[in-house]
Amino acid sequence: MAITGIKGFNDILPGEVEKWQHIEATARRVFELYGLSEIRIPILEKTELFCRSIGDATDIVEKEMYSFVDKGENKVTMRPEGTASVMRAYVEHKMHALDPVARLYYMGPMFRYERPQKGRYRQFHQIGAEITGVAAPTVDAQVLTMLTHFFQELGLTEPSLQINSLGCPCCRPAYREALKKFLLDRIDKLCDDCKRRYDTNPLRALDCKSAGCQEATQGAPSMLDHLCAECGDHFDKTRKYLELVGTPYSINQRMVRGLDYYTRTTFEMVTTMLGSQSAVAAGGRYDGLISSIGGPQIPGIGFAMGVERVALLLAEKDFSRRPDLFIAALGDEAHPEAFRLMSALQRLGLAVEIDYEGKSLKSQMRRADKFNSRFTLIIGGDELARGTAPLKNMDGGSQIDVNLDAASIQAAMTGGA
Ligand code: HAM
Repeated sequence: MAITGIKGFNDILPGEVEKWQHIEATARRVFELYGLSEIRIPILEKTELFCRSIGDATDIVEKEMYSFVDKGENKVTMRPEGTASVMRAYVEHKMHALDPVARLYYMGPMFRYERPQKGRYRQFHQIGAEITGVAAPTVDAQVLTMLTHFFQELGLTEPSLQINSLGCPCCRPAYREALKKFLLDRIDKLCDDCKRRYDTNPLRALDCKSAGCQEATQGAPSMLDHLCAECGDHFDKTRKYLELVGTPYSINQRMVRGLDYYTRTTFEMVTTMLGSQSAVAAGGRYDGLISSIGGPQIPGIGFAMGVERVALLLAEKDFSRRPDLFIAALGDEAHPEAFRLMSALQRLGLAVEIDYEGKSLKSQMRRADKFNSRFTLIIGGDELARGTAPLKNMDGGSQIDVNLDAASIQAAMTGGA
């Protein structure tokens, strides 16, 4: 029996991979406009890193991590997200000593043992961005504007930006207590998960999808009404800066986020097009994370998008690549000439195809059709004798005779033949 891949772990095949490359290239281009540099972080980290940063009482740490003990008896975990690793690297390499402001992006696979469905996988890919060292709300607005800019560059009108504030260690505890008090009378309606985390993480009931939790949280107090003066001011200013640069957003007071490190601004880019997997990108501010993993007290903010979900939103768009030229060769003498010209043109930077086996003209033209090349060149005995051959523009239909040397063919193709 043939061996298959593991459930929730996908191959990304040619045909689809071009879309991924486009998403990645767009992210690099846009993020670099905002001064970000790439960082590459390892897939395996000490398990403790994620327990301390994401939080012991989160779904990710409680039940979704790919953790194991390696041959040296070390407890290790395949990263479920990138922020903790990037901050670990930031602290470990003392990047803050030179300048606390680091602007970083990363891309790559993440691993969570979730129930696979459309838009949710066990190995999935994130493109993330993190900015450290700035507490001011200008940077919140900048990060959100960059993320919006990225989706605009992809030509997507969905997803849309929702923002919230989760306050800080100063104001959140009082809000938690107010929410717990509100939920106490309604605790029977909560789902089993939310009942269990009533003490450890009661806020999760606000964005729980179960009907009971939605009913129980109707009319619940809002974090935004409980923000301390500093957090309230931070949120107002973030909104003002977003409005100043025309970045559209709406407020979602129920947005909680599934990771414990967030403070103040949190956000999601949501779509209605992917069923229950509505968050295409998500993030927030994490002013206590760096110190929680042993670094100095330095604030940070960032986001990550799910590349599979972005690719699903781009499903309708065609990213297939077209070769520049297909050379059809008729007969034993023309075939080596086609091969020689292909090689010379490839060295000049053109994408060129031939039929490797030199089959009949009909089958070569079928291949040319399949490749959908921009130009075709047909070489037979007569053309070899003349030293010229017809070069056809497959888009415009025009045809000109070109000399059978690479430079002339290239000139004719770039000259708009
Ligand atoms: P997160 O909300 O856990 O945040 O994940 C961010 C995004 O990754 C989600 O919005 C979703 O698009 C995608 N994603 C998550 N899990 C899956 C999955 N199982 N299958 C497919 N896509 C998935 C974080 O990971 C934070 N580190 C974001 C962040 C960066 N916050 C600050 N900086």
